[in-house]
Amino acid sequence: MSSKAVAIMVSGRGSNLAVILEAVAVGTCPVDVQLVISNKADAPALNIARQAGVPHVVYLNPKDYEERASFDAACADLIDKHACQWIVLAGYMRILSSFFVRRFVGRIINIHPAILPAFPGAHAVEDALTYGVKVSGCTVHLVDEVLDGGPVLAQAVVPVHDDDTRDSLHARIQKEEHRIYPATLKRMVECGFTIVGRKVVWNTKT
Ligand code: GRF
Repeated sequence: MSSKAVAIMVSGRGSNLAVILEAVAVGTCPVDVQLVISNKADAPALNIARQAGVPHVVYLNPKDYEERASFDAACADLIDKHACQWIVLAGYMRILSSFFVRRFVGRIINIHPAILPAFPGAHAVEDALTYGVKVSGCTVHLVDEVLDGGPVLAQAVVPVHDDDTRDSLHARIQKEEHRIYPATLKRMVECGFTIVGRKVVWNTKT
């Protein structure tokens, strides 16, 4: 299995997918995106993947599966079939079943639009605004069985302005997402990391 082969799972717009594919194309992110899976037929991310020439771009309809676990098993089989070492969640709006997380333990990463452990869940940007924090940001983390709870790989901070709306704050956060997600992937394949307790310790480049 190539340690640089990556599967990216998406549900929506795909701006993180796009920046990763751009970074791969210009040589600043040394991964090989073999597979993109969407659980939404109309996700703009699907076209982004096709236009970038990703070898395998797949839409799977959750309604074709009896339960979450069988849908996730179909995704897992595709990931193994295409020998993907890393699974990158990029706006993937489904909770993964425990068996999927265990099958790929330490190999699934996600980006979340808040500074975890603050504001986990699907409404992180609104929750940060409602709380009234003065800074927020984004977190790249390993996925474990706790929602948005896995060890942290990278974080970036942005200010929250008094007149921010959900959209204006999310746009500011996404600028940082687009910077740190490809950079973290690069670091993962080039350096690797060790988990000490729940802390990620980056290896030095070999
Ligand atoms: C991002 O804000 C990410 O933090 C969250 O979902 C959003 C996906 O955006 N998990 P996009 O589809 O990559 O544009």
